[in-house]
Amino acid sequence: MEVIAKGAEANLYLEDNIVLKERIRKEYRIPEIDEALRSTRTKREAKLLSLARRAGVPTPVVLDVDNRSKCITMSYVDGEKVKYIVDTLSEEELNRLFSEIGSLAAKLHRANIIHGDLTTSNMLLSQGRVFFIDFGLGEVNPSLEAKGTDLLVFRKSVRSTHYRREKEILEAFFSGYRSEYPEGEEVIERMKRIEKRGRYVSAR
Ligand SMILES: Nc1ncnc2c1ncn2[C@@H]1O[C@H](COP(=O)(O)OP(=O)(O)OP(=O)(O)O)[C@@H](O)[C@H]1O
Ligand SMILES: [Mg+2]
Repeated sequence: MEVIAKGAEANLYLEDNIVLKERIRKEYRIPEIDEALRSTRTKREAKLLSLARRAGVPTPVVLDVDNRSKCITMSYVDGEKVKYIVDTLSEEELNRLFSEIGSLAAKLHRANIIHGDLTTSNMLLSQGRVFFIDFGLGEVNPSLEAKGTDLLVFRKSVRSTHYRREKEILEAFFSGYRSEYPEGEEVIERMKRIEKRGRYVSAR
């Protein structure tokens, strides 16, 4: 088995076009809490990967969930992390890519799916299609607040990771988001309010 990633929370292995995501123990957590947290996130991630797929958002296909070993088995997406290709794209390509990503985020939100960690590290481009992965911090939540927070996580991550192309990326993203989601404007307004609130709080 080949190790493909050692993340903050999980180790990922690849064999025969199948990915195994195993949530690892964290020694600094109390064992019972660690066990419960890994269980919850494993189950949640498997559920959300499937829900997202049904909502029209490409994700790996979940093949198995093992609650004892905290493992998800899923199909391998042969592609590149969006994070690593941003700097190689022309303006037009960047536009097309992020408008697509915005419309996928809108499809999630229309189905009340919150990703929880919307960053370009958790998106893979494979044969012209964008796949969303890493739903372990997600939830099903219909509230404007949850959706607005999801967008804010994305906006902040673009600011820190892709600051040179921030403006182009966000414009394309929000235009894709709005076009796929009638209530999108309200969510965007809420995102801005949450950000202001955060600034206010942290400025005190
Ligand atoms: N189904 C998949 N197909 C191909 N690659 C995958 C797949 N799932 C995960 N990966 C790769 O493994 C990496 C880590 O996976 P994931 O983001 O789900 O775990 P994580 O523990 O949250 O990691 P991180 O802390 O790096 O975000 C991804 O960035 C991606 O490169
Ligand atoms: Mg990740």
